[in-house]
Amino acid sequence: MSEIATYLEQNAAKFEEDLKRLLRIPSVSTSEEHKPDMLACAQEVVRQLHEAGIPKAEIMPTPGHPIVYAESEQLPNRPTLLIYGHYDVQPEDPLDEWETPPFEPSIRDGKIYARGASDDKGQFIIHLKAAQTLNALGQLPVNLKFCIEGEEECGSPSLDPWIREHAELLKADVLVISDTTMYGPGQPSLLYGLRGLAYLEVEVKGGDSDMHSGMFGGAVPNPINELCRIIAALKDENYHITVPGFYDKVRPLTEEEREEWRKLNFDDEEYRKLVGAPALCGEKGFTSIERRWARPTLDVNGIWGGFTGEGAKTVIPSKAYAKISCRLVPDQDDREIAKLVEEEIKRLASPAVEVKVSFHHGGAPWMTSPDAPVLQAANIAAQKAWKATPVKVREGGSIPIVSTFTQVLQVPAVLLGIGLEDEQIHAPNEHLSLENFHAGIAASAYLMQEIAALPEFKK
Ligand code: BES
Ligand code: ZN
Repeated sequence: MSEIATYLEQNAAKFEEDLKRLLRIPSVSTSEEHKPDMLACAQEVVRQLHEAGIPKAEIMPTPGHPIVYAESEQLPNRPTLLIYGHYDVQPEDPLDEWETPPFEPSIRDGKIYARGASDDKGQFIIHLKAAQTLNALGQLPVNLKFCIEGEEECGSPSLDPWIREHAELLKADVLVISDTTMYGPGQPSLLYGLRGLAYLEVEVKGGDSDMHSGMFGGAVPNPINELCRIIAALKDENYHITVPGFYDKVRPLTEEEREEWRKLNFDDEEYRKLVGAPALCGEKGFTSIERRWARPTLDVNGIWGGFTGEGAKTVIPSKAYAKISCRLVPDQDDREIAKLVEEEIKRLASPAVEVKVSFHHGGAPWMTSPDAPVLQAANIAAQKAWKATPVKVREGGSIPIVSTFTQVLQVPAVLLGIGLEDEQIHAPNEHLSLENFHAGIAASAYLMQEIAALPEFKK
């Protein structure tokens, strides 16, 4: 067994313990009440960085939640890896659907259950443990910089400007992120594309106050009915989005890419079972993989208004609301798409209601060449860790900060995801495979070695 493998085996239990320490902190970034937990979590990340042999680790305050920034000793003639992750998590609700409490990590069937297990605490921590391993063996072959933020789940409002202000500090040769998934159990992947996002909120107002639906109904606008009519008109029967200009900048899929993806043998029926719906559906003319990886979407995330309590209340509401998100693909622009959707919603609205559309947050899609040299290094590292050849994939989720990093710092990115699709991120019973957690630490250590060995970094 190699020295690395031996060290990992000897420290496996300790590494799991450290992951649990992070998972016990309810670092939910979207709620004010968890502010102290955010700081506590940032402090725990700093503690673990120190333990990994990275003494220069500190908490950088921001107008929002703090950023943890750390550096190993920066030696000349070595490539520098900038590792990004996020210590914030999604809210835990609905609480009663968790089999064990979300912030009391519990191990069952080789999986660790807790909010943040897969997204992203159990993923970013693998790089700290890889650094710890290589440092302990005296074999760290690269310079490391860590940037672990606490606001990814709310669109990274503080990190985005922070990167631009600290471009010199963050200077690196490769960006490394683990916040995505593998193609399947035992099947690592090389990720070369992520979708972007445009998130909107719509308010529709009819009368000044709620009204009796018998006295007024039929002669006054009902904002919920109006909102539903508008939303329904945003897509046609082929699930094609009808907003004018929406697809103008969508980069068409190449025949080559479609062919590569066909070879992945994606099983729609298995996917349907995972989802639990009676059937799959989506834009006509595209496969499930294409719909998720290379086509934009428009989805209602929530809709509310009027009476939703027990029993019945005969009322015409004054207002109705919806949250709408669009997943974007290269070369769509989030602000441009938000504007187009806003204009179409307003155009569709009846003159009997007032419509307000606001832009929450957004982010650019990201795409690189699947043949980039750093992906070759990742290819070897993943192959060594999982004993399987990685497949080239894109994914449907978004990490908008990837584009900011790559554009501002002009660095290539390696996205080494160790999550699995059924790990319930953003949902009850989130978990992470411990096998992938340990393989991930090994993969990260190998990646550091492989990047150090790339010809372009042999200075
Ligand atoms: N880790 C996810 C993104 C992800 C998951 C990418 C799985 C690919 C596969 C990340 O934490 C996340 O949820 N991002 C948000 C974006 C954000 C702007 C709120 C998302 O995709 O909804
Ligand atoms: Zn994440």
